[in-house]
Amino acid sequence: MAKKIIITIDGWSSCGKSTLAKQLAKSLGYVYIDSGAMYRAITLYFLRNHIDWTDAKEVADALENIHLHFEYNPKSEQSEIFLNEENVEYVIRDLVVAEKVSDVASIASVRTFAVAQQQKMGAGKGIVMDGRDIGTTVFPDAALKIFMTADIPVRVERRYKEMIEKNPNVTMEEVKANLEMRDHIDSHREVSPLRMATDAVLLDNTQIDMLEQLDIALKLVAKRL
Ligand code: DC
Repeated sequence: MAKKIIITIDGWSSCGKSTLAKQLAKSLGYVYIDSGAMYRAITLYFLRNHIDWTDAKEVADALENIHLHFEYNPKSEQSEIFLNEENVEYVIRDLVVAEKVSDVASIASVRTFAVAQQQKMGAGKGIVMDGRDIGTTVFPDAALKIFMTADIPVRVERRYKEMIEKNPNVTMEEVKANLEMRDHIDSHREVSPLRMATDAVLLDNTQIDMLEQLDIALKLVAKRL
């Protein structure tokens, strides 16, 4: 049987991590897991249930009631996230969730909860997971770690195009402010801040398209197999 590895893709918000991760998983026949979706789903639960996330006891009790799982949807050709049996894959992309997710993802108990589940998902290898701390904390021994970046204007434009389809009222300024705020919180938090792992490969896709970046990543995979 072909050797299977764990591939981690970390990096700044909206620099195409999930696009590359999905393409890689498809090309290799691996499972793609969007770890950010887990933090977004937890944030959605906290918002809907008015959880005061500055209160450790409220957070601990809430986490007891949160059950997350991914299911492959052949129509969208991707794994979609379920929060307590409800498919929340699309609703978690709202700006309302994006505005709070970095704060929720900074809470140590939330990270312990999510990381334990992510590590279980990687037990069988053959997985591509994207996020902020996958190469540093979740899978420090992964065979291939990619760290993605791109210039801010390019990232803002990409995310804006994505969001305007669902929410015609969203502005470029709002999108930019949200990206910058999340990057700041994600890279300055105490627990598992966004960092490039010392053994990660840097991939800057400011000037390259999706096909070129997939080609680069597949060559990196071939070297590890
Ligand atoms: O990848 P994303 O933009 O959907 O992630 C949403 C937020 O979740 C992001 O701003 C930071 C947080 N996150 C994290 O802290 N650790 C991860 N492994 C993935 C996401």
